[in-house]
Amino acid sequence: MNVLLLNKNISDIKADILVEFLTKNEVENHSEHKILNKAGFKAEQDSTCFLYEKGILFCGVENLDSENLRSACVSAVKILKTSSYKSIKLSVIANNSLSAIVEGFILGGYSFDDYKSEPNKTALKNIYLAVNTLKFSKLEKTFKESLIVANATCFTRDIVNMAPQELNPQTLVTLAYKLAEDNGLKCDVLQEDALEKENMHAMLAVGRASVHGSALIHLTYKPKNPKKVISLVGKGLTYDSGGLSLKVPTSMVTMKMDKAGACGVLGMIKAASELKLDVEIHAFIGAVENMVGGNAYKPDDVLVSRSKTTIEVRNTDAEGRLVLADVLSYAQDTVKADYLFDFATLTGACMVALGEYTTGVMGHSNKLKHHFFEAANNSGELVGALPFNRHLKKLLKSEIADISNVSSRPYGGAITAGMFLDKFINEDMKEKWLHFDIAGSAYTETPWDCNVYGATGAGVRMVSNFLKNIE
Ligand code: BES
Ligand code: ZN
Ligand code: ZN
Repeated sequence: MNVLLLNKNISDIKADILVEFLTKNEVENHSEHKILNKAGFKAEQDSTCFLYEKGILFCGVENLDSENLRSACVSAVKILKTSSYKSIKLSVIANNSLSAIVEGFILGGYSFDDYKSEPNKTALKNIYLAVNTLKFSKLEKTFKESLIVANATCFTRDIVNMAPQELNPQTLVTLAYKLAEDNGLKCDVLQEDALEKENMHAMLAVGRASVHGSALIHLTYKPKNPKKVISLVGKGLTYDSGGLSLKVPTSMVTMKMDKAGACGVLGMIKAASELKLDVEIHAFIGAVENMVGGNAYKPDDVLVSRSKTTIEVRNTDAEGRLVLADVLSYAQDTVKADYLFDFATLTGACMVALGEYTTGVMGHSNKLKHHFFEAANNSGELVGALPFNRHLKKLLKSEIADISNVSSRPYGGAITAGMFLDKFINEDMKEKWLHFDIAGSAYTETPWDCNVYGATGAGVRMVSNFLKNIE
């Protein structure tokens, strides 16, 4: 499916179907209002009315806000993908909604069928977006940027959706090398022997019962004169069985998505390098598989992390924070960054706190959170702040080690996980660090907004927008 931007009058474009957005008030004055009334079309948001003979697909919108247009494009592409039409055209009326329209078609039209013997075939090839304006070149830039970000989001979705027997820590390494080669990035990998030398015993413990070796991946995008340096850290649990604190069967299904932080970070550096942003980007990934076995790490183990902080393991299913503790420590010692962001499907509690659609954002700097939220809100992704406090911090106390890997109380689990990570953030990085819990937002079994079944590519759009606006 190609989305193309044309500097033409809509009537001069040849296509099978014309897509038209309509608000409630516009129905009565429309030249087709008789048929629309007959069909009972009220132009409710996300409703559609297909006049096959006329070659028009009407899409209802509440107003021309980006959110509503994105969502209307999702409804349109879903119908059109199951039809036999090859091309469609539509006018881009509100210039500031171009990105939303591109996202609606590309992300809403996405499907992952690598494992189907007979992939769903769609006839839809070309989507023509008509803009007739003197400012075409400016719009064309926005258009190209939106395409890059939407495609990077699909790249992230593709790898999160891969089955765990295919995508393990070592194949994730191979994928990272391939991305580095394709996009001119530097790629360093620390295999288990190197992780031992780095004293990354928290991360190593989590992966010990897996037949696949754990690895730390470090990708670098280095433009000539970077305005800022940012380190992006991703949780890459290619499978989370829970370990000896084994998950119940129903919670284990979908745990291939526990690598979504890592895959998100890959999508972000891919987008940034293709956008040719003036920001130096370091992506650090902890690629590990949490399994059971005779040599598995255990509740009651005490781990000595890379930063020498000792950790009492009380639950082997709280493994993501153990991996991140070591990767965050390594990232801070390797790169002097202006920003340090980590992305992780870290806690089910985050979904309880904010709902399944919203990414939980934690950190010490309200200013940075506020700044990031502006970028996120313009990107179509949902974010919500979860505040740290000293009372919750106390719940991580351990009687025998420096910190426990789980809280002693059952409430506020997303925040206590964030505060666990805080223990591994150096003093000079506290105000530069943000933690993103994407447990709910990274994967869905019921479509919402421009997300279809499976991985959503959470993080890619909002971080790309943040990076684009860095000064
Ligand atoms: N990967 C899970 C978190 C998760 C749960 C992600 C549901 C997506 C959907 C994480 O490793 C985990 O198991 N966390 C535990 C922490 C608990 C043991 C303190 C959880 O959320 O139950
Ligand atoms: Zn877990
Ligand atoms: Zn996990």
